[in-house]
Amino acid sequence: MTVSLEQLRRCHIAVDLGAARTRVYVKGCGLVVDEPSVAAVNTRSGALIAVGTFAEQMTGRTPDYIRVVRPVSGGTVVDIEMAQRMLRHLLGEKLRRQLRRKPRLRAAACTPHDSDPLAQRAAVETLIGLGARRVELVDTLIAAAVGCGLPVEQPSATMIMMCGAAATQVAVLSLGSIVTAERMPVGGNAIDHAVLQYLRQQHQLMLPSQSVRPLQLALRGNGLNSRGPASTEIHGRDVVTGLARSVQVDTAAVRQAIHAPLTAVLDGLGKVLRDCPPDLVADLAERGIMMVGGSALLPGLDQMLRDATGMPVHIAERPDVCSVLGLGAMLEGRIHPMVLQPIRN
Ligand SMILES: Nc1ncnc2c1ncn2[C@@H]1O[C@H](COP(=O)(O)OP(=O)(O)OP(=O)(O)O)[C@@H](O)[C@H]1O
Ligand SMILES: [Mg+2]
Repeated sequence: MTVSLEQLRRCHIAVDLGAARTRVYVKGCGLVVDEPSVAAVNTRSGALIAVGTFAEQMTGRTPDYIRVVRPVSGGTVVDIEMAQRMLRHLLGEKLRRQLRRKPRLRAAACTPHDSDPLAQRAAVETLIGLGARRVELVDTLIAAAVGCGLPVEQPSATMIMMCGAAATQVAVLSLGSIVTAERMPVGGNAIDHAVLQYLRQQHQLMLPSQSVRPLQLALRGNGLNSRGPASTEIHGRDVVTGLARSVQVDTAAVRQAIHAPLTAVLDGLGKVLRDCPPDLVADLAERGIMMVGGSALLPGLDQMLRDATGMPVHIAERPDVCSVLGLGAMLEGRIHPMVLQPIRN
């Protein structure tokens, strides 16, 4: 996937359809949408009842005839029609009218690194359904690197780690392109799942799916650090009796449960470093790793990476919206590529 800054500059709208959240940047307006990628539908009439935050709040609380769906799964649009309806509602009438006035609407979207042609096609189809005549696809790692201000166009290495909901992607970038990269299907969802599994197996406790952020609740801001209270109280439902119950949970054991999915992330990181040319690794030892994506906010994850790699680790200023802000910067023409002209002699 090659990025043409010239083509991107002609786009009017940039979309990041994530497994957890959908973000939209409109040229001249900035970031206008940052909402969960969720829609609630009435299965009897097929009507859309809610989208975004409100639909997410409905999860697990709906009667039979209302279904809460996530049109994006694993970083790929799996239900194109629903994704279009969701995006249309998230954009709102005023913005939709404004975009309709553009006779040749052009859109940009970021897709996960190494996404297959089918996934890319699904992203393109979704935006074409919204009225776009042309869609530019950008690797999400490049967009995020631009969004967090990494000097991607320089002939020195920068390492970026994108901790999303569905996957974690690591890449080494140099001269505006990806040198080596790896995508691990482990992200915020897998971490939440590990905590839920632990509570179910060790304490026979079930937590409400999303109303209680299982992770935050279990760790009480303590994260992966070993400082803080040794145990914490958690409320949930007993698996056997179905009654509400609260238990004292050992925070060290929860941390241990979270470590299991994170070992896959460390493995991937090691592979990228091993595949990287030695000259670039020397740059990286100095510059370190930049963490982006919502799960980069998981307390203590940066320290864990520091301990595992011995390299400096930084968290971007606004890690969750880096990709779409990077696309936005390319749309607005704020990115100037280093022009590599052939030398004439
Ligand atoms: N403060 C926080 N602490 C821990 N985890 C967090 C925090 N904020 C968000 N997350 C996690 O970050 C994830 C969402 O990240 P992000 O918004 O980057 O996902 P996405 O772009 O929708 O997903 P993907 O890029 O994988 O398709 C969720 O799994 C959420 O649990
Ligand atoms: Mg994302």
